[in-house]
Amino acid sequence: SVSDEAGPGTQRASSRAGGVRGVPGAGAPESERFAEIGLRFEVDGEIATITLDRPERRNAQTFATWSALAEIGRTLPEQVRVVVVRGEGPSFSAGIDLRMFTPEGVPGQGSFAAEAVLDDETFERHVKEFQQGFLWLRDPGIVSVAAVQGHAIGAGFQLALACDLRILAEDAKLCMKEPALGLVPDLTGTKPLVDLVGLSRAVEICLTARVVDAGEAARIGLAERVVPAGELRAATRELATALLATDRAAAAATKRLLQQAAHHTIEEQAAAERAAQAVRVRALFRGAVDGG
Ligand code: CAA
Repeated sequence: SVSDEAGPGTQRASSRAGGVRGVPGAGAPESERFAEIGLRFEVDGEIATITLDRPERRNAQTFATWSALAEIGRTLPEQVRVVVVRGEGPSFSAGIDLRMFTPEGVPGQGSFAAEAVLDDETFERHVKEFQQGFLWLRDPGIVSVAAVQGHAIGAGFQLALACDLRILAEDAKLCMKEPALGLVPDLTGTKPLVDLVGLSRAVEICLTARVVDAGEAARIGLAERVVPAGELRAATRELATALLATDRAAAAATKRLLQQAAHHTIEEQAAAERAAQAVRVRALFRGAVDGG
């Protein structure tokens, strides 16, 4: 069935062997499989770039897109420290492919009709796998950057929210469309949205499904930088390079500390800083002490 095609199954075991259910032609070379679903993955030294590459559909996403993102996360080359997520063409992403709402869905890439008849456990297992495509972007070992031009709607907005940092082009338009379509945002976007803009603003943005433009996004904490559209590529590259200036292990330990901060008391956080620093100081100076 379509749902089985699109369903997550046991990808962790199979992905290393090059196969992922829901990604057409599993077993074909990665680049070909990804091209079929409108995704590109490139690694240049310590920087990896994921490009949503179906501009003729404004980089609309399918269940297969999310399974492929999860596969990329599971098989990310060890040397990668920065992951850039971008979209080809005028829009970052118009969200879920609206053909997923039709009975036939997107051939080989899923449909809501097929998901709707699943039992709760199977349905949630599928969504959990899709969410893995977004969650790994927060791993302490990497910094993820979304480069957003034009529309980032629904799943597109959530993909931008899944990244640690967002650079927006001046024409960026963010919209959490799901509630207008009878759905909830379930691609891990609700928590970062609330963390960034606060509960009241998040409720207002989601329950009106209105567009947040780049200027407002910067004001309310949804963007680290806004640049002219023609400069998005260069500005993203500049930020990625700047993020490589710090020591790799210190960067990972610092990101971990920062991620814990909001849930810790000041005393708990101070303790976490001490423990992390002990590891850093030993790594940096023990050789010097032993040697002297
Ligand atoms: N799915 C499939 N095709 C899409 C698409 C989508 N989400 N968005 C755009 N396209 C297609 C259009 O049908 C059009 O195709 P044709 O050339 O064959 O007619 C092509 O892309 C270009 O689209 P537009 O002419 O509309 O381009 P635009 O630049 O004028 O407008 C847009 C761009 C504002 C994004 C507009 O296309 C749009 O509103 N798209 C729909 C957005 C939407 O509602 N997405 C669902 C979000 S909810 C979600 O994502 C839920 C979830 O995760 C569960």
